[in-house]
Amino acid sequence: MSSLSRSGVFSGDMDQALARFSESISFDHRLFKQDIRGSIAHARMLAQQRIITDEEFSLIESELLKIQDKIERNEITFRIELEDIHMHIEQALIDALGDVGRKLHTARSRNDQIATDLRLWVRDGLDMIDKLLADLQRAFLSRCEQDAGVILPAYTHMQRAQPVLAAHYWLAYIEKLQRDRSRIADCRRRVNICPLGGAAVAGTSMPIDRQMTAELLGFEAVAANSIDISSDRDFAVESVFVLSLIATHLSGWAEEWILWSTTEFGFIKLPQAFCTGSSIMPQKVNPDTLELTRGKSARVIGNLQTLLTLIKGLPLAYNRDLQEDKPPLFDAFDTVIACLELAVPIVQGSVLQTESISRRLDQGYLDATALMEAMMLRGLPQRTAHHKVGALVAIAKEQKKSLVELSNEDFQKVDPSFDGDLLRKNLGIQGAVASYRSYGSSGPEHVAQQVSAWKKKL
Ligand code: ARG
Repeated sequence: MSSLSRSGVFSGDMDQALARFSESISFDHRLFKQDIRGSIAHARMLAQQRIITDEEFSLIESELLKIQDKIERNEITFRIELEDIHMHIEQALIDALGDVGRKLHTARSRNDQIATDLRLWVRDGLDMIDKLLADLQRAFLSRCEQDAGVILPAYTHMQRAQPVLAAHYWLAYIEKLQRDRSRIADCRRRVNICPLGGAAVAGTSMPIDRQMTAELLGFEAVAANSIDISSDRDFAVESVFVLSLIATHLSGWAEEWILWSTTEFGFIKLPQAFCTGSSIMPQKVNPDTLELTRGKSARVIGNLQTLLTLIKGLPLAYNRDLQEDKPPLFDAFDTVIACLELAVPIVQGSVLQTESISRRLDQGYLDATALMEAMMLRGLPQRTAHHKVGALVAIAKEQKKSLVELSNEDFQKVDPSFDGDLLRKNLGIQGAVASYRSYGSSGPEHVAQQVSAWKKKL
């Protein structure tokens, strides 16, 4: 049997090699719910506009819902001759309803149909991602309370820099994830535009009501140009960009916690349920989930590249190339959803190794900046204080001591006016953390404010 798209202009069937080459049902079957939802809205509109009768609409609607059930129960066999999900559903409708089924495709083309299906699918996907991002934010937020008072070294250039509250770290991730969520909200506005009724490329002479279908499908607006409608995949590219940045954020976090879970760092213990063992080294507990999270970001970024390359150089309007948008789009969503679903329990279930952290907090001269700032508060210019503290650190390093262990003579060696007893009061990790007072800092007061603000927000 020849497919729905082969009109009387063809005298024979499609070549089998082309059928295999051209099919998309193997991946676009995932759109069946969106396709049926779009078709029901379209048919309802056709009935309201008296293009089909109310009885015809009722038949179409109930048959489409039956087809949906059948697909869910795997009772419809997908065949490459029917190319894609649109034709499978329409063919099933025609098989059941004959001529009434043949009316559904009035004032519609697969070009606006696929654009509609995809937008509905992406909209749901973005909502799902947003929910998972909020879950992950909440996981970090509850860590803030769980790890209250724990101090970690903050790093710049991967070198120990200044002491910070662990909660300040968790808040940093909450901020990143919030930006991801705001990008999702922004992207969603442009996804949520209705293409249906754009038809193939020029619109239609049939008296359709595009506003009505848009409203039925929950779209915020009707796309205004039928040529643009069938070619536009910006929403796909944009959403995969948003996903790429999320994957990049997750990858950075994963890398950090992989390092932190090493014996060398000894900062964090990952939940064993999310680690794997080694087949040859019985002592190993490997952070595979985090490694895969880091690795899978490559796929998502690759998918973005694929989509950009796909639309680059396409003339208006619909071109069949666009069928290739689905595998990278689906894969980007699947991958990021999977990563987020695992990130949440890992963040919840990991345990900071507070003993091994605090035992080595006095390594790395984390309180040097606090000492410098104490000197500045007493009137020393920053550059001078910076230089003098540097000299003190050099002496301490040579004596294998921490700054607080330096003698009064050591302080005076660097500057005869230095009072060791006085300056020592500004040293030590706790004091350094307590001294931060700027907005955005790791000062306990600011951190507490942030935690309670996020608690209200999340
Ligand atoms: N399977 C097609 C796609 O994904 C649907 C649109 C086909 N349109 C057409 N004129 N052949 O792009």
